Amino acid sequence: MKMMPKLLVANWKSNPHNVASAIKLAKFLDKKGIVIAPPYPFLEQVGKAVKYAELGAQDIFWEDVGPYTGEVSWRHLNNLKVKYVIIGHSERRKYLNETDELISKKVSAAIKNGLKVVLCIGEPAFIRKRGIKKAKEFVKKQLIRDLQGLHTTYNMLHTNLIIAYEPVWAISTEKGSKPDRPEDTVEMIAFIKKLLHTTYHIPKPKVLYGGSVTAKNAKDFLQEDTIDGALVGAASLKAKEAKKIINIAKDF
Ligand code: PGA
Repeated sequence: MKMMPKLLVANWKSNPHNVASAIKLAKFLDKKGIVIAPPYPFLEQVGKAVKYAELGAQDIFWEDVGPYTGEVSWRHLNNLKVKYVIIGHSERRKYLNETDELISKKVSAAIKNGLKVVLCIGEPAFIRKRGIKKAKEFVKKQLIRDLQGLHTTYNMLHTNLIIAYEPVWAISTEKGSKPDRPEDTVEMIAFIKKLLHTTYHIPKPKVLYGGSVTAKNAKDFLQEDTIDGALVGAASLKAKEAKKIINIAKDF
């Protein structure tokens, strides 16, 4: 039986250099089932350049409009056809000291205002070294804290919340990084889904994997029914490699 199509989210982070390169790459990756998350200043042009791919932002502020210098709210994103927003990426937790409390405000604001949230969670290396049981405990606490304030029966939560399990040590730009073992990913994602199901009553939780996904290993993750797709960073910036990953995802 064919499962739900896999979702691929291209997290371009602070790349590429200019809008012309962003448009070129976006056109190359323009397929159904793909979410492209470029830097804010490129959102409008990338949105105009694509026909099939959907648009994602890499962050959001929790308030509406007002005196919040430098911040971008759901209302601004609504103007740009943005459907998805990545929240709680480990780089923002690390470089901007984003806390679970702050992340939970962003998640609530985005969900309540109709955006699909890709909430990134995952344990750091020192936790994983203590074993997968400890990693699960960490992930559970992080998830519960990041979702605090959201009503468990809130309808939008069921359709608009997507989790990206991204163990921090697996992100390609981390020192000594390596992808997770797909069997461990499946175990962790099954654990996260069970938690979302029992605690938040989400009937069919959607959970992606992120961390050093490449054209070489994409099949190992995407062929697993438990894994609903991938959040792809570095490889999503390399046109040919990204296209290969898109083609692999189509098979499942
Ligand atoms: P990576 O990044 O694919 O380069 O490991 C993933 C991410 O940080 O979202």
